[in-house]
Amino acid sequence: MMDEVAKPYAAALQEVMRTADLFEFTAEEGVRVAGELQLSDAFPGEKRNKLALVQRVPLGVIVAIPPYNYPLNLAGSKVGPAIMAGNSIVMKPPSAGAVTGIVGIAAIMNLAGAPPGLVNVVTGKGSEIGDYLTQHRDANAVSFTGGGTGLRVAKGAGMIPLQMELGGKDPALVLPDCNIKKTAAALVKGAFSYAGQRCTAVKVVYIIEQEGELSAKILPLVLEGVKKLRVGMPWDDKVDITPVIDSKSAAFIKGLVEDAQAKGAKVELPEGGWQQTGNLIQPVVLTGVTKDMRLMYEEQFGPVLPIVSVRSVEEAIELANASPLGLQASVFTQDIDAALSISDALQAGTVQINGAPARGPDHFPFQGFKDSGLSSQGVRYSIEAMTKIKSTVINLADESYTTG
Ligand code: G3H
Repeated sequence: MMDEVAKPYAAALQEVMRTADLFEFTAEEGVRVAGELQLSDAFPGEKRNKLALVQRVPLGVIVAIPPYNYPLNLAGSKVGPAIMAGNSIVMKPPSAGAVTGIVGIAAIMNLAGAPPGLVNVVTGKGSEIGDYLTQHRDANAVSFTGGGTGLRVAKGAGMIPLQMELGGKDPALVLPDCNIKKTAAALVKGAFSYAGQRCTAVKVVYIIEQEGELSAKILPLVLEGVKKLRVGMPWDDKVDITPVIDSKSAAFIKGLVEDAQAKGAKVELPEGGWQQTGNLIQPVVLTGVTKDMRLMYEEQFGPVLPIVSVRSVEEAIELANASPLGLQASVFTQDIDAALSISDALQAGTVQINGAPARGPDHFPFQGFKDSGLSSQGVRYSIEAMTKIKSTVINLADESYTTG
């Protein structure tokens, strides 16, 4: 993972352990996939003469397409539930994480004694084999994590179940009564872990204030935290920020920052403006971001934190909800009533109160609203998503069952 996707050593190690735990949890959860018995007289006017045996049965063949940023864990989060639900799987690892897919999933499954044909790994560019796999007549479901191409995958796949996670803008709403120190720390970690290349990275911050009073308190702490981030190559076990995945991505991120700057945003960091060596980008913090700037709604997927000042919670909610994406969001406040009503108002699959967005722990439900996706992930939710309901109804010959 370090060599393939420049994941920092500590994060790569953590991903391996997280995935081992995920498989273990999934194996335990899988044996609890149970059916149910339904009785006809639960419905008004019906006699107790029909029994429905309701089962969850496998879908068949699951096509799994994980992304480069978690080439092992997000592969495992598809493969594990698919197997425990009784399916076989064809996985196309990300081009940039193909070796991780082959070694970390295919070879390990082989070592673990999986029968031939249960877990299949096919490498290749998404643009060349993606449509073939997702539109194949023998594909019974698609589980895809990635960016905007997911919309095309969804349109092409036809009438089969889809589990799609297509990114997020993950706004963080910071209220005046928040714990300043903890909030600043959460914003820095949330925005810059793995150089911001996470669907759940904090990608825009709304600071709710009247005359800049909250910014005056929190911004210095954010900048101090960002300055402490260690920028370097993935083999250094102390590094926080590593190169982004490729030069195309680096150029896209730079374009977003330039657009914001040209329209009046202030680059607080790095001092002196944009700094890049190869694909290694020094972390950027921008203030004065406004809705005419691309950074307000486009997903940067890089080490860039845009900060927007707004005058009310309502304004922040309106701006946040104007995004086509709705994966996660955060609210920082010590007022639980306010936090809950903001959570209700935000169009996001998950709202974190006093914490940065995160998919894990891996048994929690994880789902996007709007263009962020379809269906829910998380161990049990994924197992259920990879099954279908089948019922067998026994029509009893006499009504002796009616009286028990
Ligand atoms: O990038 C998308 C991932 O699902 C985010 O996972 O919250 O564990 O970083 P994470």
